[in-house]
Amino acid sequence: MQTELNGSPVVKTETFYDDVIAGLRSTPKHLNSKYFYDANGDKLFQELMNCAEYYPTKCELEIFSEKTAEICKAFISGGDSFDLIELGAGDAMKSTCLLEYLLAQKADFTYLPIDISTNVIANLNSELPATLPGLKINGLNGEYFDMLKEAASLLDRRKVVLFLGSNIGNMPVNEATNFCRELRKHLSEGDMVLIGIDLKKNPKTVLAAYNDKGGITKRFNLNLLERINRELNADFDISKFDHYPTYDPETGACKSYLISLDDQLVTINKKEKVRFLKDEYIYMEISQKFTALQTEQMAASAGFRPLNLFFDNKKWFVDAVWMAE
Ligand code: AVI
Repeated sequence: MQTELNGSPVVKTETFYDDVIAGLRSTPKHLNSKYFYDANGDKLFQELMNCAEYYPTKCELEIFSEKTAEICKAFISGGDSFDLIELGAGDAMKSTCLLEYLLAQKADFTYLPIDISTNVIANLNSELPATLPGLKINGLNGEYFDMLKEAASLLDRRKVVLFLGSNIGNMPVNEATNFCRELRKHLSEGDMVLIGIDLKKNPKTVLAAYNDKGGITKRFNLNLLERINRELNADFDISKFDHYPTYDPETGACKSYLISLDDQLVTINKKEKVRFLKDEYIYMEISQKFTALQTEQMAASAGFRPLNLFFDNKKWFVDAVWMAE
């Protein structure tokens, strides 16, 4: 999820279908935002990252370009040689800053980008060594935790795991903590994580990022209904749904909904009929915002010791370094 193309994950049609039907049969209706990223969704997310209101990518890029030396120093402080593993590498745009610096420092590391998209991994394996001569790369195509296991079986060195872009925010808080616990289980004492997390800030700034004037976020959300039409043979009339983003400054939960503008019946795969009432919503996505303190609490409760916090100049975003205890 990243300039970072998510790279059109290869999703099994049956799983996609089952998840969509289960979500639309629930009360309230919901869809999983992991399905936003087909080829169209990737393009829209790319557009979104370049739009004026969507600040997280710009903040994290600023951190990576201005704090490169400090971040790499934190990695190297754990020992000379390591494997640098990136979860959801996309086009590795941000990590390239780090890779360049580590190569210049003659650090002994192998880069193992993990991505669900075959295309993404094939491109990284072929293109990165050309732009970064001397880079040792071993791209892994598959689910994060399956590929972490694979990485451990291939190379047995200290691990530094990158999980960037505030992708952690697309899980509700308890799920995010469980994800960090699961990640810890795949690591050994002394391994490190660099995790990008979007912070609480002026609620108007957050809301504007998820309600851009150009309507890209709206198209990004509606694209999932179009994807269901394309891939699951459904007949959503997308002109009959509107995008409704909310941000609650108390909890830090930024949520997106699609609102049905009419009473309507949608057919999926000829046999499934889903009824929508006028004004009924589909819950589409959470983009959770944290305080710096909450990130440290999450680290501790998952078995990590927080080591460093790297902020952008406005303190809107943090890249935190944690060490497995
Ligand atoms: C990928 N993820 C971190 C983005 C976010 O900010 O939650 C996805 C996104 N949704 C709407 N705009 C961007």
